[in-house]
Amino acid sequence: MPRKHYLLPDAPYATYEAYLRDEGPSAVLLSRRAGSEKILAALLESGLRGRGGAGFPTGVKWRTVREHPCPTRYVVMNAAEGEPGTFKDRWLLRHNPYAPLEGLLVAAQVVGAATAYVAIKASFAPELARLRSAVAEMTAAGVCEDVEITLVEGPGEYLFGEEKALLEVIEGNDPLPREGHNPPYELGLFSTPGSPNPAVVNNAETFGHVAGIVRHGAASFRSIGTHDTPGTVIFTISGDVARPGIFERPAGTTLRTLVHELAGGPRNGPIKVILSGVSNAPIGPDKLDTPCDFGSLSLAGSGLGSAGFVVIGQERSIPRVTQSLTRFLFVESCNQCPACKLGLRTASSALDELFDPGLATPDDYERALYAARSAPQGNRCYLPVQGATLTPALMERFEAEFDAQIAKPDEPTAAYAVPLLLDYDPATHHFTIDETHARKRPDWTYEAVERPVGERVTLREKKKVSLRPTSSTVGVRLAPDVLEALRKTAGDDAADLDRRVNALLRKQLGL
Ligand SMILES: Cc1cc2nc3c(=O)[nH]c(=O)nc-3n(C[C@H](O)[C@H](O)[C@H](O)COP(=O)(O)O)c2cc1C
Ligand code: SF4
Repeated sequence: MPRKHYLLPDAPYATYEAYLRDEGPSAVLLSRRAGSEKILAALLESGLRGRGGAGFPTGVKWRTVREHPCPTRYVVMNAAEGEPGTFKDRWLLRHNPYAPLEGLLVAAQVVGAATAYVAIKASFAPELARLRSAVAEMTAAGVCEDVEITLVEGPGEYLFGEEKALLEVIEGNDPLPREGHNPPYELGLFSTPGSPNPAVVNNAETFGHVAGIVRHGAASFRSIGTHDTPGTVIFTISGDVARPGIFERPAGTTLRTLVHELAGGPRNGPIKVILSGVSNAPIGPDKLDTPCDFGSLSLAGSGLGSAGFVVIGQERSIPRVTQSLTRFLFVESCNQCPACKLGLRTASSALDELFDPGLATPDDYERALYAARSAPQGNRCYLPVQGATLTPALMERFEAEFDAQIAKPDEPTAAYAVPLLLDYDPATHHFTIDETHARKRPDWTYEAVERPVGERVTLREKKKVSLRPTSSTVGVRLAPDVLEALRKTAGDDAADLDRRVNALLRKQLGL
């Protein structure tokens, strides 16, 4: 018998019938019988917080759409899962697509939507197959009634999962986030002047919890997890641990339990740091006893995000980790907001230079730091805030490692592949990582040639990509006329002069 409010069964539910046999009566039918007012009240009381990353209270979101003056509303399941280090929505949809679909149908009833969408990457073949047959079964069982569920197969880009970009994809466009002042609960799908058609967008796991709340009530849901984050959380623990895996546990379970007990403890020496996806500051080994809920991790200077924790072992080079993650955010940003692409590009390129004896300068550290911090200006979405949080946090925590790297840029260091999880094998406890991202360019095309993960793209290659700078080697650039005059006097080449002036300025400023 499954435990109440747990979403992952011991073995995948093969049919809707098997799901109902184990879980109890259909949450959709129960919800229709109880009526929307009661269900919304239960959801508000349950304290359910979105599992897509931000932890927004689900009931409040639903209430906003339900009370919106526009009569046309939509509900959308976000199953685009693209956060590095996270593989929980895919795992849930493979094992139990029924709970999230029931939650989606309950949402449609509560907010008065006649159309529901499931937005998922076209490359997620096993999950798509499960969703297709689950929708067919549930339609045949009569629970879909007058709600039409459409599966939308979207692109592989990270931004597809951003909710405003997700809506764009459903409308048939590229995954480019709309302006910040247009959240889905205000401007939803297929709007026309005078008809904004608000939409509820929730993560797949969030919808999954709705089914249990309808079935067992808010108090029962609150009896699991913490006051801050009631219910269970599906954690993904990967990286330098003995037994990487996906674990559903009550919110508030400590990182120590997750990493040391469930994932078998660190591999390759003691833990250096733990990443919470790429959306939050990393967590130090001194914070292992922090309960994993939204509030506690935020107070500890990080965040729960989508509960994907990547353990970084002692042998890893943090400058390499920072280079890889910053590059990921730069490449995945979309260039609609200039400060975002520019800031992340400068940070990424300065971090690349740390590993190139011909280009490394003492300014690379500051350039990366300040460029990352300057990325969120006029931003439509949260992506540059992630860069402005994660990159400086890693750099400042491990400043000594960066100093050592700057002093010896030719010292060999192992590249780090951004932990984009493609698949999981529970028998071997192995996550497959998408290593093609190293070849993805900032304009979202791919380099044709296979190159080892983390190897630098040469400046000549960079020039082919319009979004990259053609040259940017030092922090202070000399004006062309000054450079020319100096060159005549000193007879040196431009790059060297730049560097020497830079060094003198730093000395003058006492840096
Ligand atoms: C760059 C970026 C990528 C995101 N990717 C995902 C994703 O893959 N899945 C997801 O559920 N939420 C993702 N989000 C968060 C969504 O924008 C949104 O907050 C979430 O779907 C809301 O659902 P929830 O309230 O149930 O958490 C992403 C946000 C950003 C800024
Ligand atoms: S903030 Fe960055 S990623 Fe987000 S829409 Fe603007 S350019 Fe694109």
